[in-house]
Amino acid sequence: MVVSNRVALPDESSSRAGGLAVALTEALRHYGGLWFGWSGRIGQQSGGTPQVTQEGAVTYATLDLSRRDHAEYYNGFANRSLWPIFHYRIDLADFARENYQGYIRVNTLFAEKLRPLLRDGDDIWVHDYHLIPLGDELRRLGVRQRLGFFLHTPFPAMEVLLVLPNAARIVRSLAAYDVVGFQTATDLRGFHDHVTLESGGEVLSNGLVRAFGRTLKAEVFPIGIDVDTLAELARTSPRLTAIRRLRRNFDAVRLMIGVDRLDYSKGLPERFKSFERFLEKYPSWHGKVSLMQIAPSSRSDVPEYMQIRQQLESEAGHINGRFAEFDWTPIHYLNTGYQRPTLAGFYRFSQVGVVTPLRDGMNLVAKEYVAAQNAEDPGVLVLSRFAGAARELTSALLVNAYDLEGVADTLERALGMPLEERRDRWQDLMQAVRAGSLTRWRDSFLKALQEAPYSVEG
Ligand code: F6P
Repeated sequence: MVVSNRVALPDESSSRAGGLAVALTEALRHYGGLWFGWSGRIGQQSGGTPQVTQEGAVTYATLDLSRRDHAEYYNGFANRSLWPIFHYRIDLADFARENYQGYIRVNTLFAEKLRPLLRDGDDIWVHDYHLIPLGDELRRLGVRQRLGFFLHTPFPAMEVLLVLPNAARIVRSLAAYDVVGFQTATDLRGFHDHVTLESGGEVLSNGLVRAFGRTLKAEVFPIGIDVDTLAELARTSPRLTAIRRLRRNFDAVRLMIGVDRLDYSKGLPERFKSFERFLEKYPSWHGKVSLMQIAPSSRSDVPEYMQIRQQLESEAGHINGRFAEFDWTPIHYLNTGYQRPTLAGFYRFSQVGVVTPLRDGMNLVAKEYVAAQNAEDPGVLVLSRFAGAARELTSALLVNAYDLEGVADTLERALGMPLEERRDRWQDLMQAVRAGSLTRWRDSFLKALQEAPYSVEG
């Protein structure tokens, strides 16, 4: 039983599918089960009878949300309080109390609608920051089944989390689960610090934590990708019209690629400024390299997302206005999404993958870029050390995404990297991507969940 805010219904175009959606689709197809969440629609009122769709071994049950609930729960508390705080953007956070109430209201509603669908022996796996209190609400309704929670975003350092007025309640809610999973050791440390220093809890051995009268397992489960599927999509991509056109158009130009949801956490204005600095500093590359940035709009009702969109448009226009020539455009900024097979081809035919978030839970684009490369002539990954993926992909060119000059120099280094070094690095990276695959993530989390309930003797 999987619960997440967004459900990738089988008839939806895969161009909208983010990391969470792709990962959960694969996991559910493998095990079979039920996927419960928001329908993606705004209705007259929230709730009603869940809309049920069946495909193969997977059942989808979804609920509409009212305009008010969507505004307060999703746009409000999830995306204007938790998201900025979890991504270390205290300056962008808003703490309107009605949004928090809306967040709790929708979590309560999800619990009430989910409960009748549960059977004895079900394992319930809840995903992401939208649904942290769901476990607590289910326990309140008497649910005794095993409950797991995985956070796809970063979990911030304690000092940052404490800025959130409801931090204590959020941490207490996590203790309702039997297993809580984080992307990296840094995220787990933030949780441990809060539990021990603020909540009077204890960190025991074997990943166990005792807090708020319960014992749970809190561990790191780095999310991965389905390496073989992505590699095969990339290998066969030359038969796609889009990839043939790409290769024709960029025949004489090296390509750097960025693919991100249009989100301030992704460091896109900083990436454009670093590219501008690179063009200033290394004029011999003028006319010989372009940056293709794909950034589909996201959460576009939220003011901070409207601002970043405007900022990026003006930044791209400024750089192209300053450097473009009649036969060369430095930045191709595409405010739209592409299907996975096309993206896989774009990755394969780009000499540099630029993944420079200011903060990111994992960042699966980094892993997909690696999996899509041609072993004989692989591209170079430039990766922010503030992405969870940097913990595993240590053979990438790691950068401080805030340091524009440093990123500019690294782009130049990536473009000039000799084939032998590219191959060596890529082999290491591919090994790391395979070691932390999607299957491993899913199976290790579910194994931990099946070993619950945990007791202190553990
Ligand atoms: O990064 C967190 C996350 O939930 C991803 O797992 C997902 O791909 C993305 O955000 C989707 O955001 P939204 O549902 O707001 O479009």
